[in-house]
Amino acid sequence: MRTQVAIIGAGPAGLLLGHILRRAGVGFVILEQKSREYVLGRVRAGVLEQGSVDVLRDLGLGADLAARGLTHHGIYLQYEGERHHLDFVDLVGRTVTVYGQQALVRHLLAEHDRLGSDVRFEVEGVAPHAIDTDAPYLTHSGGERVDCDIVVGADGYHGVSRPAIPGVQALERSYPYAWLGILADVAPSTDDLIYALHPDGFAMHSMRSPEVSRLYLQVDPGESADDWPDERIWEALQTRLGIPGWTLTEGTISEKSITPMRSFVASTLEHGRLFLAGDAGHIVPPTGAKGLNSAIADVALLGRSLVAHFAGDDALLKRYSGAALARQWKVQQFSQWMTEMLHVHREVPDEAARAFRYRSQLGQLEYTTGSRHAQAALAEQYAGLPF
Ligand code: APR
Ligand code: PHB
Repeated sequence: MRTQVAIIGAGPAGLLLGHILRRAGVGFVILEQKSREYVLGRVRAGVLEQGSVDVLRDLGLGADLAARGLTHHGIYLQYEGERHHLDFVDLVGRTVTVYGQQALVRHLLAEHDRLGSDVRFEVEGVAPHAIDTDAPYLTHSGGERVDCDIVVGADGYHGVSRPAIPGVQALERSYPYAWLGILADVAPSTDDLIYALHPDGFAMHSMRSPEVSRLYLQVDPGESADDWPDERIWEALQTRLGIPGWTLTEGTISEKSITPMRSFVASTLEHGRLFLAGDAGHIVPPTGAKGLNSAIADVALLGRSLVAHFAGDDALLKRYSGAALARQWKVQQFSQWMTEMLHVHREVPDEAARAFRYRSQLGQLEYTTGSRHAQAALAEQYAGLPF
């Protein structure tokens, strides 16, 4: 077959790019290695920046979001048994929207189905070829060849696109902790999200709907979900999130999984006719809620650049990698900063150094919650840098 843009991966990045191209009349196909059920079943991030909400709404993809998204005016930072509210509307005049990546993927896919887009699942062995010529193509195990003008690697961290770039480098670091995340069938015990530093480790209270809570605990990277029976999870959440006069209501846990923490940025997002977007090009630890928003930011820029390219103007596309990476590095430092401020660094071998580290994190939190300038800096970045 022949198409204009061959997209590898049907995560939020690939599916959203398809909608941008479709709207501009640019032809595309999306090839995904997993099944539709698997893609729809993945529970991931849950906070949209205002810029992400605007992108979806402007594309006519905001109906489900408007119906089910929960608008939040700020977050709580908690430490030393006290909870401090940061009011984003007051600080920077912006809000964020709690809306699960799972719901977004379901909606993007349903719209593709309705519009008759060519989105194919369970396509194994996808490989890009001739990306440094003006006639690139993909092959896959089904024996088909897809000729195209542009290949987009929206195939996540473990995809095949990034390794196809000669000499691409990974700038990366890992963290000596992971997140145990649960979904629970219980009304959230909080209005805004709570991020808490406790001597036992980080904990966080998020949500998916008025009936479903999403909660996280810092755990050691080697641990498995089996190490955490439900009672142990609730006990740890009660300890780490508890403050006098507030009750965390428990409920049935319907999903439990461990997420590793990693920061990673590829040295480039382009080679010839191949462009990377989303997790294929960069990963953040989840503390700042930036993974999904970064994918949307990339795709908004790449989509615009590709539409201009097919209209005969290559200037934006030539700048895509540099512009997307410049934004991404600001997001990276914010995510790393939030992560290191809020997690217990048990890996520090020396007890005095460990105590120093913890106490200085409290100082950082006291400064952040006590200074309007610091609050505004956090709010500006959390609510989202311009696209
Ligand atoms: N061939 C086809 N599809 C592939 C291949 C391959 N070789 N390798 C990976 N994929 C698919 C994956 O199965 C997945 O469905 O690419 C998709 C990539 O989707 P995501 O991992 O969701 O990445 P992205 O669309 O960039 O979205 C980023 O996802 O991980 C979260 O926090 C992250 O919220 C952020 C978002
Ligand atoms: C989530 O709801 O899954 C979530 C929210 C905020 C984060 C990370 C995850 O920082």
